Amino acid sequence: MPRFIPEPYRIKMVEPIKMTTRKEREDYLKEAEYNMFRLRGEDVYVDTLTDSGTNAMSDAQWSAMMIGDEAYAGGKSYYKLLDACRDIFGYEFTQPVHQGRAAEKVLMPIFLHKGNYAIANLFFDTTRAHVEIAGARCLEACNPEAQDSQLRAPFKGNMDIAQLERHILDRGAENIGMVVMTITNNSAGGQPVSLQNMRETAAICKKFKIHLNIDAARFAENAMFVKQREPACKDMSVKEITRAFFALADTYTMSAKKDTIVNMGGLLGVKDGKAPYILKIKANCISYEGFYTYGGLTGRDLEALRVGLYEGLDENWLRYRLGTMDYMGTRLDEMGIPYQSPAGGHGIFLDAARFYPHIPYYEFPGQVLAVELYKECGLRTCDIGSFMMGNDPDTGEQIKSLNEFTRLAIARRVYTQSHYDMVLDGIKAVWDNRNNIKHGYRITWEPPILRHFQASLAPVDA
Ligand code: F0G
Repeated sequence: MPRFIPEPYRIKMVEPIKMTTRKEREDYLKEAEYNMFRLRGEDVYVDTLTDSGTNAMSDAQWSAMMIGDEAYAGGKSYYKLLDACRDIFGYEFTQPVHQGRAAEKVLMPIFLHKGNYAIANLFFDTTRAHVEIAGARCLEACNPEAQDSQLRAPFKGNMDIAQLERHILDRGAENIGMVVMTITNNSAGGQPVSLQNMRETAAICKKFKIHLNIDAARFAENAMFVKQREPACKDMSVKEITRAFFALADTYTMSAKKDTIVNMGGLLGVKDGKAPYILKIKANCISYEGFYTYGGLTGRDLEALRVGLYEGLDENWLRYRLGTMDYMGTRLDEMGIPYQSPAGGHGIFLDAARFYPHIPYYEFPGQVLAVELYKECGLRTCDIGSFMMGNDPDTGEQIKSLNEFTRLAIARRVYTQSHYDMVLDGIKAVWDNRNNIKHGYRITWEPPILRHFQASLAPVDA
């Protein structure tokens, strides 16, 4: 049995969980038309649908909320947050927003429009959607190592530098509105990006004069991976690595609902406090989010976010966090169960295409596995594969994802070691039963954008 790192926190408040039977879970699934987002949270035993906004705040965060300044404009909590972001990221301007996609909505139309492109080491779903809503198109340049779940490499999330340059030369540098570096690379399995790769990406952006944005939702997990895996950085603190990483970009958009350990919040940072587009950011924010010193959040939210930024960078916390994923990965290795390896920073991405090689991408193997796991043990996961990718915005054809993953995204400071062990037992049972699952799912209704959140599905053999 591999060793696990014990929780570096103790429990002060508990939330009871409802226990359900397999029959009940089968009924709930039917009612939800096999869409995991349409299950009720109370019908789930361990919820790994997302690590976003599902975190438990600390006593320090809750107490900081009491001193939130609720001034409409120029509140104290805003200026304290600005100082924290200067200290951690070295960025002169920070725009709070209500969550990551709000930062995308505010920033992207300033750089993207019909006819131009954004290039990323992979876009997450809402980021892809905001590129397309701005009228632009997405191009991807992901490290090819990420496509082989069985290949163990330290930085599978990296930008494919040669591919990035090819895209720029093919479309013309003047038609690339923005390069996005997603850390960690969520769609590739929470895989990290090295500081060296960030340097190379920044050099290309500088050479072609292209704006470089970091999609920074999981910046702290990424920095801890860099410390553990990039020999040149082993003696740097996670905070120093973060500083070095952000110094290479122009802006960042951040969902603070992940590594910043709050339930709601986001940030948009600009390195150069004199950048002319700050005025546009403020104007967009005032229209969509609220005045720029609160950006859709309350003063107390800003306080919790500021404290969470520092707690998220705590190295004991991060060692435990990555240790949990490593423990789960090692146990899966022992059972011979395929996942994107090595384990990512925020969860385990099971390789559903290897569970069900006979189920084609348009019957959504990642979704099949999600359904089976819920039936087996009340574990809620989600498809990070063709079901999530959706249809090509120009041709309407189903996109074939590079990988068919079923993601277990682990909420921060919420579950305990015994929950993880229960989950591993559930995965094993579903793995042992894999050959009895013959067919996948078809979509019976879908909205035009971000369809996976709402679509209805039905079993293909029904
Ligand atoms: N960028 C990345 C890399 C993300 O993972 C997410 C959200 C966002 C941007 C958008 O942030 O949700 O605060 O608006 N990812 C969540 C997930 C939802 O489940 O991975 P948001």
